[in-house]
Amino acid sequence: MGEVQDTDRVHERALPDGERRPVDRERLADRLLKSSQRLALDPAVEVAWDSAWQGDMFFLPEELVSLYGTPLWETMPRAQRVELSRYEAGCHAWTALWGENQLIQLVAQHISRLDPSTKHVQYALTELEEECRHSQMFARLMGKLGTPAYHRSFVDRCRAKLWKVSMGPIRVFTSVLIIEDVLDRLQRATIDDASVQPVIRDVARVHVVEEARHISYARAELERQMASCPALKRYATQFMSGLCAVFVSRGLIPREVYTAVGLDSRDAARQVRASAHRGATLCWSAKRLTTFFAQIGIIGPAGAWAWRRSRFL
Ligand SMILES: [Fe+2]
Ligand SMILES: [Fe+2]
Repeated sequence: MGEVQDTDRVHERALPDGERRPVDRERLADRLLKSSQRLALDPAVEVAWDSAWQGDMFFLPEELVSLYGTPLWETMPRAQRVELSRYEAGCHAWTALWGENQLIQLVAQHISRLDPSTKHVQYALTELEEECRHSQMFARLMGKLGTPAYHRSFVDRCRAKLWKVSMGPIRVFTSVLIIEDVLDRLQRATIDDASVQPVIRDVARVHVVEEARHISYARAELERQMASCPALKRYATQFMSGLCAVFVSRGLIPREVYTAVGLDSRDAARQVRASAHRGATLCWSAKRLTTFFAQIGIIGPAGAWAWRRSRFL
């Protein structure tokens, strides 16, 4: 936990809550590069991969499971609740892996036009290396969980392609942060919960430690870009960020998981949509992100409706 707090401080120094001053790009990148050298965690060593799953322990904190607090949840035996948490932990791992795959493509595209001698580009390359390690970790976790990859629909894949074609740096880092920041909050809650399987908590700890740097980097870059963003582009960013939030939120737990644990998927999905607890959980998971986005103008009149629809706001 000491390591987690340490990288949190890196993050806070980059973006103080009071007066907001854009952080110097090269100085921040240099600090993050040094942090990467000092605090790089190898998932092959840090995670007890060979240990068996523990009895009837949950795979996610119970209150983070999508159906928690619904009438349907009250009728489910503990074994079925634990089984649902296993599938949902697999969904979180798959979302992280899929998001990292998109991020690797976007960041590689972004730095291909920049000067490689800068610390900014060198840190971006370090981040790509870390994301490849994380993706291997999440893939290995999914293998151990025995849960499938829920591939996006054809329409969703087209949307993701369109997003990549139309990417400028603002939208690169906006989409990166939506996935990274929300998962980071969920994983921090997982690390602290002693009722969750130790292997899942190990994976969350490794990811949170390294992700704190990625979040600092993306936040500083977005803050810098938004400070000089023309009004029209600002409105377009607000609109597109809202659509991206809906895309991420709706894809997090596909309804196939309910069928996999023996539930009526339509009824389960309906109860999740109606669940005040689920709405509050999604809103809490994105609170740090939405506060920051509102401060720098990424959440605004042109896209707030979509953010509310995603339940992140
Ligand atoms: Fe990652
Ligand atoms: Fe990351």
